[in-house]
Amino acid sequence: MPDAPPVEARGLVKRYGDVTAVDGVDLTVEPGDVYGYLGPNGAGKTTVLRMLLGLIRPTAGEVRLFGSDPLLDGARALDGVAGFVEAPRFYPYLTGQKNLELLAALDGGDAAARIPEVLDLVELTARRRHRVGGYSHGMRQRLGVAAALLRDPRLLLLDEPATGLDPAGMRDMRALVARLSLAGTTVLLSSHLLAEVEELCNRVAIVRTGRIVFEGALADLKRTAGAGWRLRSTDDARALEVCRAQRGISAVHAEPLELRFEATEEAAAQLSVALVEAGIAIRTLAPHAATLEDLFFRLTEDAPQPAGAPAAREPEAA
Ligand SMILES: Nc1ncnc2c1ncn2[C@@H]1O[C@H](COP(=O)(O)OP(=O)(O)OP(=O)(O)O)[C@@H](O)[C@H]1O
Ligand SMILES: [Mg+2]
Repeated sequence: MPDAPPVEARGLVKRYGDVTAVDGVDLTVEPGDVYGYLGPNGAGKTTVLRMLLGLIRPTAGEVRLFGSDPLLDGARALDGVAGFVEAPRFYPYLTGQKNLELLAALDGGDAAARIPEVLDLVELTARRRHRVGGYSHGMRQRLGVAAALLRDPRLLLLDEPATGLDPAGMRDMRALVARLSLAGTTVLLSSHLLAEVEELCNRVAIVRTGRIVFEGALADLKRTAGAGWRLRSTDDARALEVCRAQRGISAVHAEPLELRFEATEEAAAQLSVALVEAGIAIRTLAPHAATLEDLFFRLTEDAPQPAGAPAAREPEAA
């Protein structure tokens, strides 16, 4: 099947007892995509990646990677697919180089010959003779990518590759993913950071409690979401009421120190008049870049509500 997409998942479900970790996920990743699987803690990101890699069996649904079922063919046997879930694991008392040599021996083929090249790609050549136990978290993550690259993958599956890294480590990891994509690798990565996905990915699935609530180009979502605003006032509780009553103001919600909503510039200007008429002084009224929380709020607000249910935000899963 030469034209089968890198990833195709249909109706994926994974249940653990009464917890539904993944709840009917459909996913298609096309060649050349850097696809972001974006969601908060517990959304089922790792569980989906485990199923894609054939590490666990779905309760229902199916996965195809380049047309093959990873459970039947085994992720290791799957030509051109590599990645890791949660943190990559290495022998801490061996060097980076030695760890890669062991993995290359398992992979076979020309994996061993690729070691210098992949070390270079992840910028670990200078530290290759050092023990992994002394590596920083960022270096270990990069070594994890290097290990995946030994297989010369056409598809790379990465579970939160930049999480837990400091700003410089995050920047390095993002630059690495961008380089791999430029070199022609298709990437599916999970993340809980909107900004990261925005920077790296051309397509995104936004997930919450196991379900995809949006799938497509992030730019489309942001376009439909309209312009975000933040408001600080002398009386946020009353300002909230004014916002809710005001035409042209939507997706209103309270953050700890401010209110957020969506509006055109004109509607925001009218809101400022209404606030003053209500005797509320404005400390700040300014546009702001949407956060993952804002997008969730927008997506759940717009979702059709069951009859009789209040159109309220679901409580955040712990
Ligand atoms: N092996 C397991 N046994 C029982 N429950 C599990 C198991 N694996 C995952 N879960 C549950 O499934 C849900 C999704 O977990 P998962 O680890 O996939 O989320 P995640 O999006 O990767 O979260 P995080 O951002 O914290 O990594 C959680 O409620 C979790 O407790
Ligand atoms: Mg996870």
